[in-house]
Amino acid sequence: MEYLQKLYDIAKQTRLNAYAPYSGFKVGAAIRTDKENIFSGCNIENASYPCGICAEAGAISAMVAAGDRKIKEILLIADTNCILPCGNCLQKIAEFCEAGTIVYSADLNGIVSQRAFSDLLPFGFSADDITKSPKP
Ligand code: THU
Repeated sequence: MEYLQKLYDIAKQTRLNAYAPYSGFKVGAAIRTDKENIFSGCNIENASYPCGICAEAGAISAMVAAGDRKIKEILLIADTNCILPCGNCLQKIAEFCEAGTIVYSADLNGIVSQRAFSDLLPFGFSADDITKSPKP
């Protein structure tokens, strides 16, 4: 599919801008939204290690700042055989994804796998858990 190739190309290009002097592990992420817009991000590390930002977080920030809110697909690319979102990023993606959201994992040669988001985080915490909580 043409749009999937576009998502891949943008993630791959954005990965080149990753700032990963500590791990040497560059990651790119690209999101396609319900409005057919594409937003991308790369990991940005920091000398204070916990301050580092994952590629997914950068792509989500760009999406929200532009006014989009629904992730239809997200593609991750790294120089490894299977890059999947870390736990922290799964929670960040959960906030903006839908039942049918697809997570693609890619390496430098192409897409390696695809999974439904719900397979990666089947029992996540969501806004529903807050609204269902008894009020004090
Ligand atoms: N990283 C991401 O950008 N996304 C992930 O889902 C996994 C890990 C980054 C964080 C850090 O800069 C480097 O990869 C090594 O953990």
